[in-house]
Amino acid sequence: MSLRTALLFTVPSLALAAAGCGADSVPGPDPVTVHQPPGWDSTVSLQPAVDNNPDPHIVEVDLEARLGEVEILPGIKTSAWTYNGSIPGPLIRASVGDRLIVHFKNQLPDATTVHWHGIRLPASMDGTPDESQPPVLTGGSFTYDFVVPDASFFWYHPHVQSAVQVGYGLSGPLLVADPADPPDLGDELVLVLSDMALNDDGTLKDPKAGGDFGTLFGREGNALLVNGRIDPIIEARAGLRQRWRLVNAAKSRYFQLAMTGHTFTRIGGDGGLIERPVETEMVVIAPGERADVLVVPHGPPGSTLPVRWVPFDHGYGTTFERPEEELLRIHFEDAPEAKAPPLGAVGREIATLDTKGANPVALELTMGKENDMLVMGINGVPSWEATPLMAHVGDTEVWSVKNTMDFAHPFHLHGFFFQPLGEDGAPVHPMEWKDTLNVPVDKTMRFAVKYDDRPGMWMFHCHILDHADAGMMGMLHVMKP
Ligand code: C2O
Ligand code: CU
Ligand code: CU
Repeated sequence: MSLRTALLFTVPSLALAAAGCGADSVPGPDPVTVHQPPGWDSTVSLQPAVDNNPDPHIVEVDLEARLGEVEILPGIKTSAWTYNGSIPGPLIRASVGDRLIVHFKNQLPDATTVHWHGIRLPASMDGTPDESQPPVLTGGSFTYDFVVPDASFFWYHPHVQSAVQVGYGLSGPLLVADPADPPDLGDELVLVLSDMALNDDGTLKDPKAGGDFGTLFGREGNALLVNGRIDPIIEARAGLRQRWRLVNAAKSRYFQLAMTGHTFTRIGGDGGLIERPVETEMVVIAPGERADVLVVPHGPPGSTLPVRWVPFDHGYGTTFERPEEELLRIHFEDAPEAKAPPLGAVGREIATLDTKGANPVALELTMGKENDMLVMGINGVPSWEATPLMAHVGDTEVWSVKNTMDFAHPFHLHGFFFQPLGEDGAPVHPMEWKDTLNVPVDKTMRFAVKYDDRPGMWMFHCHILDHADAGMMGMLHVMKP
């Protein structure tokens, strides 16, 4: 457009606005002064981890795994497994590049460890027995001490009998903020999605319920939870943008979220911001994955907008006669709709990993029987019989993970982010860094990974923890060159 045309088009509208006529000039609420109502997120507030270190670049917290009384079913006490007494565990906040020191104590009746899902830390801090650390026995302690090099939403959970321990309540959020994030992304909510299997009297259900069949389907809890609460209500101002940091911390359940008449804008995933925002009708988060989404909830003052859990087809019988469920509700305060400021540029450039000459790694997720018991595995071998894969620091590899079973598997690699690749071997767009990737039924998923200078033993496994514990797990030995 020439300068003259630009003037022709812009000057009259400017003049109109200056003259105070036209529908646009009716003063709406000032986007700068309109906020969410006070205490808007109090029903989903998380216990904050207390930082005991005055150094602004060191976050030093105490974390204790212990039995605790929590109220999940209304008015009923549940004796659960907790970090610092709450479900989920305390929200640890850090900034990218900070050092995180966690003084961990185990007061549970069983041995445990803390695994920092997604963090690129030294293998000795990864919390995976027995290669990276021996389990912390009852009454024992361990100090986790590492730098958080990437901004994203992470989580922590035990890695000993994880299906049982996560199912009993053990998991917590770790948010590594990027001070360089655009400030206008919206009012932030940290939402830990999970479930628990509870009897009517509040006691924990048998974690082995349903035998082999339960293992195969993955055992889902009957209580659907957002930050440890059933169907909480958020009090919001209609029209304001919200930024939801989501993690699926359930041991087996997939989360697919929907809001009638609304879309979600996904801006980030496991490993920080993605290449560019994607607008979707529904957000799907497989066990272990995270999603960073923007939503602008609309509705008449005083009305309620449900956020629904919608069954996601991840294999045989997983949607069959299954009703949707309300996950949480947004209640709009009695005030006119606000106007969210326009969303600025958000995204980041992600350099493609060079896969020329990369070592191919072919895995197949499998199942079989041993002594008439269901055993899951990788390439036909259960974790307890597997020999570690070998690689060297500096190597780039292309993994392909094949699934010929009747159920999908969210495949997770510890310690390194990877780039999902399409069938043609080129990165999937929008590009993103991931640590957990869903492998649908009858599909082969591929990714490229480069091992930076953190040698050691790293785990990979299905993040349906019932599957992992049944043997769908393996080790990767990254050696010094
Ligand atoms: Cu969430 Cu072995 O991982
Ligand atoms: Cu992990
Ligand atoms: Cu699986």
